Amino acid sequence: MDEQASQIEGSRTRDAFAKARYAGREHDRQTLCASSGIQKMRIDAAKEKLAIHGGDPVRSKSFPSWPQFGQAEEEQLLASLRSGAWGKVQGTEVSRFEKRFAEYHQCKHGIGVVNGTVAIRVALMALGIEPGDEVIVPPFTFVATASAVIEANATPIFVDIELETSNIDPKAIEAAITPRTKAIIVVHLGGLACKMDTIMDLAKRHGLAVIEDACHAHGAEYKGRRLGSIGDLAAFSFQSSKNVSAGEGGIIITNNGELAQRCWSIHNCGRVPDGKWYEHHCLGGNYRLGEFQGAVLNAQWDRFEDQAQTRERNGRYLDEQLAGLDGITPQVRTADCTRHAYHLYSLLVDPDILGISRETFLEAMAAEGVPLMAAYPIPLYHEPLFTNRAFGPFSKAANMDYGNISCPQCEILSTRQGVWIEQRYLLGTREDMDDIVCAIKKVHGNRDQLSTG
Ligand SMILES: Cc1ncc(COP(=O)(O)O)c(C=O)c1O
Repeated sequence: MDEQASQIEGSRTRDAFAKARYAGREHDRQTLCASSGIQKMRIDAAKEKLAIHGGDPVRSKSFPSWPQFGQAEEEQLLASLRSGAWGKVQGTEVSRFEKRFAEYHQCKHGIGVVNGTVAIRVALMALGIEPGDEVIVPPFTFVATASAVIEANATPIFVDIELETSNIDPKAIEAAITPRTKAIIVVHLGGLACKMDTIMDLAKRHGLAVIEDACHAHGAEYKGRRLGSIGDLAAFSFQSSKNVSAGEGGIIITNNGELAQRCWSIHNCGRVPDGKWYEHHCLGGNYRLGEFQGAVLNAQWDRFEDQAQTRERNGRYLDEQLAGLDGITPQVRTADCTRHAYHLYSLLVDPDILGISRETFLEAMAAEGVPLMAAYPIPLYHEPLFTNRAFGPFSKAANMDYGNISCPQCEILSTRQGVWIEQRYLLGTREDMDDIVCAIKKVHGNRDQLSTG
């Protein structure tokens, strides 16, 4: 099969359908949105009838699909299959990927594991987190950041985020530290670096370990340093949606040799590097990443740098083009972020300024052919897992009353304002970005025609 053939196949069918529906209007659309330039777009977008009210949609073709793959993935996967070395212990694909990924992220050690959730749990176990210990986490994240703490039989302590970055607020971390606090898990939300100097400084002052949940942050940087290399340990995910993917998968990276050794043992049934196969020194499990995933990841990794640069270029462009819209604010890209991963391009859509709800905005955007997503809709401490303390055998956090927690900034983002653009959109062309901008401006300019009820 040709490079990228499979993904092009899918979008061709969609494009043909869209073209037929759109016949004759393509020229007008281009006049409005792309070839006429952004200045004219600004003027005309507000005049157009919204697609949700029967007007012409801004866009009729699909955005780039994900995952992207081709001949390289097929060949490397087949070679791994034919080699008969299907497990990490026998093969070379995972170990090659671990080395490449860790080096790129300025770390000496990489341990490939089954997924990002397990990467966090193994990191916590390696740090020696014990029952009764508290681990500070943000509530605006995927459940795994906090559930991995429960699975390590410790207690997640939720602290608020900053509205403008979506990232954990260092002041809230400091305020939540108790004698039981042992670690902080920071999440670089969407691929934007947390305030790592401040966080590492307070961690040092209080003797706390820092785990970077870098599951959104492949290749991102803070002051020129790759995320994942700043905390004590970092966890990445290669689940289907992630910027580097093998369907499932994860990795722990670190510059600390001792922690690396512990993670290696835990992910390999408690074995030690020079020990015998049936010789188990600590509690662990078989959390090893498989060779087929390693083969896919090596091929995906060859594509990564180009993709990361494209997302970075397009993310910066969207920032420029979306600046100054009343009530629609892109995630603030702090000066310390020297490269964003743009796993998510985040927006705050403020219903109090716009006069329409986030959901109404999303419906209007979808009708314009630019479907966006609501951000994590529930602060984690309001999830039934936490309100019901449904922690199974891991009972140490059971004394916490999660129903009483309130993180106001997270609640604004989750329940009212947070909107995401998927990373695959940012792999598109400049014209694709102009369509996103045009649709947002069109909905923004005509918001008085939208009723929220
Ligand atoms: C922020 C964050 N942390 C952890 C994870 C867990 O990764 P995985 O799904 O590979 O277990 C995810 C995955 O969605 C995530 O988004």
